Amino acid sequence: MSKIILTGDRPTGRLHVGHYVGSLKRRVELQNSGEYDKTFIMIADAQALTDNIENPEKIRQNIIEVALDYLSCGLDPAKSTLFIQSQISELCELTFYYMDLVTVARLQRNPTVKAEIQMRNFEASIPVGFFTYPISQAADITAFKATTVPVGEDQLPMIEQTREIVRKFNAVYSEVLVEPEALIPENAVCMRLPGTDGKAKMSKSLGNCIYLADTADDVKKKIMSMYTDPEHLQVSDPGHIEGNTVFTYLDAFCLEEHFERYLPEYANLDELKEHYKRGGLGDVKVKKFLNHVMQEELEPIRNRRKEFEKDIPEIYNILKKGSDTARQTAAQTLAEVKEAMKINYFDDAELIRNQTIRYGE
Ligand code: TRP
Repeated sequence: MSKIILTGDRPTGRLHVGHYVGSLKRRVELQNSGEYDKTFIMIADAQALTDNIENPEKIRQNIIEVALDYLSCGLDPAKSTLFIQSQISELCELTFYYMDLVTVARLQRNPTVKAEIQMRNFEASIPVGFFTYPISQAADITAFKATTVPVGEDQLPMIEQTREIVRKFNAVYSEVLVEPEALIPENAVCMRLPGTDGKAKMSKSLGNCIYLADTADDVKKKIMSMYTDPEHLQVSDPGHIEGNTVFTYLDAFCLEEHFERYLPEYANLDELKEHYKRGGLGDVKVKKFLNHVMQEELEPIRNRRKEFEKDIPEIYNILKKGSDTARQTAAQTLAEVKEAMKINYFDDAELIRNQTIRYGE
């Protein structure tokens, strides 16, 4: 069986370093590994609209931002199909049919949907489209017969829901759909990188994100004002590592080779942490080190972004071509689904020629 990747992001803002360590970096590695037959990367605008009905312009503007972030991280249109969800109408058709395979109770139990409903204070006023987006996500994944879905941990309930839909479809109709597997980050800190203020989640409204498109100066400013250990007032004081954002970011970004280049007095992160815990190591020194580490990772991304920004029509062209390719694959799966569901009347010569009419039944 071929190995196929599908994943995507909602275009509600520029992508930040949490997206990067949580999924983007891994996707580029998978794309370049040569182990996958196809890679599909989707900008999930239709899903973003399910809770942004009043903000169509925001979604529209962020399509290009997300595409630029993708390309500058190294997703390569020669190796991966980059496309826009709303342009593949087959996904809506699949969603409609899958709706018959899922109960309201099952959707209500989906932990991600539950948490999001709470976060948005939707309660009784949940749009049906939002409530059912796990079904549409199952359509996204199965339309491409994806075997592997690289995502953050928060998306696991979506993959589980998809697997249930696949099993049900294949049992009721016939073995058309493929059960996908989620691929989550190996490094636990990468699953949920906190904001620069130490809050659990990076979010635009909290102003605590480092964006991939930030200038070198902005990145430095954000790092130098990062939340550390509020009890570590003087350099000589012993410090805490847990909940100390600077060390969490080092856990996510730093390699041993960074010490040779930027902080040769220490062999590795464990030594640095030990010194901080003992006392005698100041926040500024650790922050400067983190700044070197992150700039090294982000600079090539930022430079590639500047190049891609010079030709925006070409980015739209890449997305259009990708959407055309994606549509062909989705149409093929939809045809198989309709055949399995016996709603392919006009393709069925046997039915048309030999239809028997039953009287008196
Ligand atoms: N739900 C994902 C997010 O919020 C985006 C998404 C939509 C997705 N369809 C998908 C991810 C299919 C993986 C596979 O980021």
